[in-house]
Amino acid sequence: MRSELIGFGTLVQAGKENPDAYRTAALSALEVGYRTLDTALRYENEVQVGQAIAQTDVPREDITVTTKIPGRFHGYHEAKTSIIRSLIDLQLPYVDAALIHWPLPRIHKYVDTWRALIEMRDAGLIRTIGVSNFLPEHLQRLAEETGEMPAINQVEMHPYFGQGELRAFHKEHGIQTQAWSPLGRTADMIDDPVLAKVAEKHGSTPVQVVLAWHLHHGSMSLPASSNPERQRANLHFEVELDAQDIADIDGLERGRIYQDPATHEEF
Ligand SMILES: NC(=O)c1ccc[n+]([C@@H]2O[C@H](COP(=O)([O-])OP(=O)(O)OC[C@H]3O[C@@H](n4cnc5c(N)ncnc54)[C@H](OP(=O)(O)O)[C@@H]3O)[C@@H](O)[C@H]2O)c1
Repeated sequence: MRSELIGFGTLVQAGKENPDAYRTAALSALEVGYRTLDTALRYENEVQVGQAIAQTDVPREDITVTTKIPGRFHGYHEAKTSIIRSLIDLQLPYVDAALIHWPLPRIHKYVDTWRALIEMRDAGLIRTIGVSNFLPEHLQRLAEETGEMPAINQVEMHPYFGQGELRAFHKEHGIQTQAWSPLGRTADMIDDPVLAKVAEKHGSTPVQVVLAWHLHHGSMSLPASSNPERQRANLHFEVELDAQDIADIDGLERGRIYQDPATHEEF
C-alpha cells in the first residue's frame, strides 16, 4: 500500500506562523489517505498533531505516529521524560515509533538514550524504536553496546543526496530508511531540468518523479505540505520509472545539503 511508504511530515511551514495549521494539515493529510504522521518534541506541534488524531474518523490503530527525542533530553532518565512529555502532548497512551533525533556524538549520551528507549518499548509505551541522522559508526555502537540495532534511521535523502552507502548498510542490517526533506525542501531541486524532463516523459510532476524515485529505492519518504491538493498529489500518483530514469536521477548526486550528523548539535 502506498501509504506504508509515503508518510506525512507534520512540520509544515505554515505552522510556524499559525500553530493551528499543524492541526489542519495533519487532519487533511489523514483525510487524503496518509497513515504515518512524523512529528518530534522539538517541532512543538505535538499538541496539534494529537488534536488531529482525536478529530479524524481514521481509527487510531490505523495511524502510525512517530516522535523524536531532542538533544536536551539525551540521557537515560531524560529520554524517558521526553517520551512521557510527547505522550501527554499527543494525548496518546503509546506512540508507534520513537527515534533519537540526532546522535550528538560530542556529548556522547546516545547509548544511554537508546537503553531508555529499549525499556520503554518493552513496557509498551513505544511500538518500534529507531534513530534519526545516525551514521554507520553510531548505529554499530548501539548494536555493540546494547545488542539491539535500530529498526529505523530517518535521514536527509533526496535526488541531490541519495544516501547510497548508508542505504546499503541499512539493507544489510534490516533497518528501514526514512527520508526527510524528500523533496529537497527548497524549490531549487524541484526545478532541476533532469527532473522536469523525466516528469514530461511520464506526464507527471517533478515532485511525483522524486517520490517515485524514493519508492524505487525502498525508502519511506515524509513529504510535508500544508496544502491538501499537494498532499493528495504527493500520495496518489502513478509513475513507473524505468532504469534510464533512475540512472538519470541518481546522477544528480551532489552531496549533503543540510546538517552534518557528525557535528550538528541541536537541543
Ligand atoms: N529527522 C530530522 O532531522 C528531520 C529534519 C527535517 C525534516 N524532517 C521531517 O521531514 C518532513 C519533510 O521535510 P521538509 O519539510 O524539510 O522538506 P520537504 O518535504 O522535502 O519539502 C517541503 C516543501 O515542499 C513543498 N511542497 C510539498 N509538496 C509539494 C508539491 N507537490 N509541489 C510543490 N511544492 C511542494 C512544501 O510547500 P507547501 O507546504 O506550500 O506545499 C514545502 O515548502 C518534515 O515535516 C519533518 O517531519 C525530519
